[in-house]
Amino acid sequence: MYFGRIPRFSPSFSLNDALTSARLIARPPEDAPKVREFEQSFARFIGVKHAIMTPSARYAFYLILQAYDLGPGDEVIIPGLTYFAIPSIAVTAGVRPVFADVGLTTHVLDPAAFEAAITPKTRAVVPTHLYGTPCDMDAINRIAKAHGIKVIEDCAQSTGARYKGRRVGSLGDAAYYTFGLTKNMTTLTGAMVTTDDDAVAARIRKVIDAGTPAALARSRKEAVVGLAMKVATHPFVYPLTLHPAIVLGNKLGEDPIHERFGEPEVLYKELPDSFQRNRPRAVQAAVGLQQLARVEQLNGARSRNGRFLDEHLAHVPHLTVPSYPGAAEPIYMSFVVHHARRDDLMAALRKRGVDTTTGYMNDCSDHPLFPEFRRPCPNAATIKAEQLHIPVHPSLDDRDLAHMVEAVRSACLELGRSA
Ligand SMILES: Cc1ncc(COP(=O)(O)O)c(C=O)c1O
Repeated sequence: MYFGRIPRFSPSFSLNDALTSARLIARPPEDAPKVREFEQSFARFIGVKHAIMTPSARYAFYLILQAYDLGPGDEVIIPGLTYFAIPSIAVTAGVRPVFADVGLTTHVLDPAAFEAAITPKTRAVVPTHLYGTPCDMDAINRIAKAHGIKVIEDCAQSTGARYKGRRVGSLGDAAYYTFGLTKNMTTLTGAMVTTDDDAVAARIRKVIDAGTPAALARSRKEAVVGLAMKVATHPFVYPLTLHPAIVLGNKLGEDPIHERFGEPEVLYKELPDSFQRNRPRAVQAAVGLQQLARVEQLNGARSRNGRFLDEHLAHVPHLTVPSYPGAAEPIYMSFVVHHARRDDLMAALRKRGVDTTTGYMNDCSDHPLFPEFRRPCPNAATIKAEQLHIPVHPSLDDRDLAHMVEAVRSACLELGRSA
């Protein structure tokens, strides 16, 4: 029986990961050996000398800024379309975020906009490989080198993606990743820094090692949520549970998934103490090792689904489909289309059983959190207003893909007629 009900995401967290979590939370081993093992495997996977596990990507970014001695008087160029926490933590570090626009359909940093945003104070740039799409790294590295600018890759949404055959995270001076439950690989909570720079790695490791280990209750909570999401997005369970909850929630003006996985957008006036009280534990590293063994397979399934959508949605009326910088090998963390009547398209798709999301990325170049850093990024503004994330996760099968393409096509035709 086919229900034609398609969840917006499915966690990579597995039953085996849940069992490992239960075992290591019940009888916690020493943390350092497992964490080192995961770090070394991750460094090999990315193709870099050093990997250091951190509590979060935002803290990883903060530590990288500090390791390069960036602070008051320095500027860092950040794409306008990004996660609020990155410019927010730059401000905490005393560094001025300078927003540069992204490509309208690539969604990633436009090298020409990056170049135009450079001033004598620019010390770093953050090419964010958003939605699993690698930036045009040759162009960005060329410009950065000419101006003596550090390249800090944001790989939070792109673990495993490649550019010219090399993994993102090995293309600049340093990089950070994050492994929350909704990412393509998870360590429950946790993140990573990679770099080839011995001095930067040593400085970051010193700070992390001086921290307090995370409470295991956090991992326990995330493991329970991960398992619940796994069950709730199962093809036989989803149509009868989560899907009706989302439909009902929407009628009441709420989105239960956003409620659980979203977070308030805040400015960190100073570094929260909690950042130093969340040193990653063995259980997170053990889940990370299991996930790392599967990430290529999961990314491969995403990419196959993404390429199918690229091909079959390319000529749908009134719909703008994504594009990719040359030489980028995306992992399709999200498949992001644009439509002038985005909210109507979202509702029309939900009626057809397809759950979509507008995502968590904001136009930070025009955001109430950053009034003194406003800088026009017209593409980021359009994307913010018109983007819709169509399911592309590895659990989709051929019937789901065919159902979704038909749903998008018929919804767009319907909206076109009623425009
Ligand atoms: C592009 C991007 N950068 C940074 C982050 C921040 O990651 P963390 O929550 O680990 O700080 C995220 C979180 O999803 C993200 O999507």
